[in-house]
Amino acid sequence: MNFAFPTPESTMEFGRALGRALRAGDLVLLAGPLGAGKTTLTRGIADGLGVGGRVSSPTFVLARVHPAGEAGVALVHVDAYRLGGDLSQLDDLDLDTELERSALVVEWGEGAAERLSDDYLVVRLERREDDVRMVTLEPHGTWESRTPDLRLAG
Ligand SMILES: Nc1ncnc2c1ncn2[C@@H]1O[C@H](COP(=O)(O)OP(=O)(O)OP(=O)(O)O)[C@@H](O)[C@H]1O
Ligand SMILES: [Mg+2]
Repeated sequence: MNFAFPTPESTMEFGRALGRALRAGDLVLLAGPLGAGKTTLTRGIADGLGVGGRVSSPTFVLARVHPAGEAGVALVHVDAYRLGGDLSQLDDLDLDTELERSALVVEWGEGAAERLSDDYLVVRLERREDDVRMVTLEPHGTWESRTPDLRLAG
C-alpha cells in the first residue's frame, strides 16, 4: 500500500489512524533516511493510541515507554539509530516482555527488531524533493491480513 503525505500534519494524521488500530504485541518498524518523518509519524501513532508523555526526537532518547491511556495499550518508542542494530544495548528495557503488553515502534529497527516477532509492519518513508513523504506499508506475518482492514487515510 502506498500513500503520499504533503505536510507533517497529514503524516501525523496517518499515524493517528495507525495508532488507533494498534494492539498490545504489535511491532511497527519505521524505515527511511534522516528526516524522513519517522518521529513525526510516531507522534501521530502516540496520539491515536492516546498514550501519555511527549514523543521525543531521535538520538537524545534511545527508548521511551509511554503509559497507556484509555485504549489500554502502552507505546514503547525506540530509536535504534545509535544502537547500530544492537537492540540488546537496551538492557534496562526487556523488549520481549515489553512487547507483550505494549505496541512497539522502532525507528531504524529494520534488520534487528524482526527477531522480536514474526508479525510486524514495516512503514517505509521517503522524502521527495518537494517535501511530500511517500509512504509504503510492508506487512509481514499476520499483518498481511490486517493492513487491508486498517482503513488508513491516504
Ligand atoms: N510531509 C511531511 N511529513 C512529515 N514530515 C515533514 C513533511 N514535510 C516536512 N516535514 C518535516 O520533516 C521533518 C521530519 O523529521 P522527523 O524527526 O520526523 O524525521 P525522522 O525520520 O524521525 O528523522 P531521524 O532519522 O533523524 O530520526 C520535520 O521537521 C517535519 O516537520
Ligand atoms: Mg526520528
